[in-house]
Amino acid sequence: MTRNDPQVKQLHTNEILNSVGGVVRSCTENATAGVEGGVFYHDPVMLKECLQGLRLEAGSDLNKSGDILAGGTFVDCTLGGGGHSYAIASRLNESGALHSFDRDDDAVKFASKRLATITEKPAAPKFVVHPVPFAMLGEEIAADTLDGVLYDLGISSHQVDDSSRGFTFVGNNPLDLRMDRREEVSAQEWLRAVSADDLAEALRKNADMDRAFKLATRIVEVAAETGREGRDILPSDIKEVVEAVFPDKRRDANSLLARVFQAVRMEVNGELRQIETSIRSAVDCLKVGGRLVVMSYHSVEDRCVKDTCAEFEKACICPEHLPVCMCGGNHQRLKKVNRKPILPSNEEIAKNSRARSAKLRVYERV
Ligand SMILES: C[S@@+](CC[C@H](N)C(=O)[O-])C[C@H]1O[C@@H](n2cnc3c(N)ncnc32)[C@H](O)[C@@H]1O
Repeated sequence: MTRNDPQVKQLHTNEILNSVGGVVRSCTENATAGVEGGVFYHDPVMLKECLQGLRLEAGSDLNKSGDILAGGTFVDCTLGGGGHSYAIASRLNESGALHSFDRDDDAVKFASKRLATITEKPAAPKFVVHPVPFAMLGEEIAADTLDGVLYDLGISSHQVDDSSRGFTFVGNNPLDLRMDRREEVSAQEWLRAVSADDLAEALRKNADMDRAFKLATRIVEVAAETGREGRDILPSDIKEVVEAVFPDKRRDANSLLARVFQAVRMEVNGELRQIETSIRSAVDCLKVGGRLVVMSYHSVEDRCVKDTCAEFEKACICPEHLPVCMCGGNHQRLKKVNRKPILPSNEEIAKNSRARSAKLRVYERV
């Protein structure tokens, strides 16, 4: 179900500045109880373009041939609320298969129920949920079997909007930031164990933060102080540090705080490592001609996607200092389908502000 479906009656649209990635997301309640008590989970971004990239919908340069691979095998690495998975499954026939990954049990429960409305019908495609990190793609899926793999990176609106998950500074609940609550180390534990040097490096690498060492030193002190007091680290503790380190940028305090959250979240969840490992496996799992479709939401994520894929775009993998190619020059495994990343339309951004920082890259296995 998308917010455009006729049965969805939007009662209330509430824009909040959330704490992650500085993105303003929309939070919508759905009156008609179509999905889990009628509560909105996540609005899928660039849905049509993703489907075109996967060759499940005709139109645009992403699917020039207009082929619809209704009997194909696809992976959605980021199930979330199931918006993209639902649309993929509804385009597949009984020969088709969809494997969806998510390491968040809220997402797995919610989306499995939602997808059951398609996959429990007669002549439905095969649907398998993998409740594990997508870096395990290569362990779960056989090589050379896929027609398409989709990544809609980052976190869902639900993870942000449910303040008990500890992703947001709205509500001042204890910091957590784990997508997978089975993981042992939450943001609190990580902040109590990390050195100021390593935290500063994470702030620079994951969020391009200025004054990273000063910020890191104060955050590590606050983490230790709250530990001695025997209490949780709260978003307000981090906010005080941000305001003290950036007294000249009071008006940007929320977006600076969001970037601190983003940097810590990326470490707690090992996000860049996950992306790199998974894309490498996706290249192995795709058949020749299969598509890799990746949507990122900030420059650090996008750079990771671009750099990982760039390695597979090279025909020659010889060390640069060699004067002639010794490797045979036939190592290229990916080619770009769109030269520049595709951005959402103004119309989509107006409807769903979460879309505004999205960038879509599509590659084909060669
Ligand atoms: C932006 S949401 C996906 C939304 C989904 N496309 C939809 O339409 O509802 C990203 C989801 O990916 C999951 N996720 C992020 N990184 C992951 C990883 N490394 N392994 C498994 N799931 C991951 C998050 O838990 C979240 O539910």
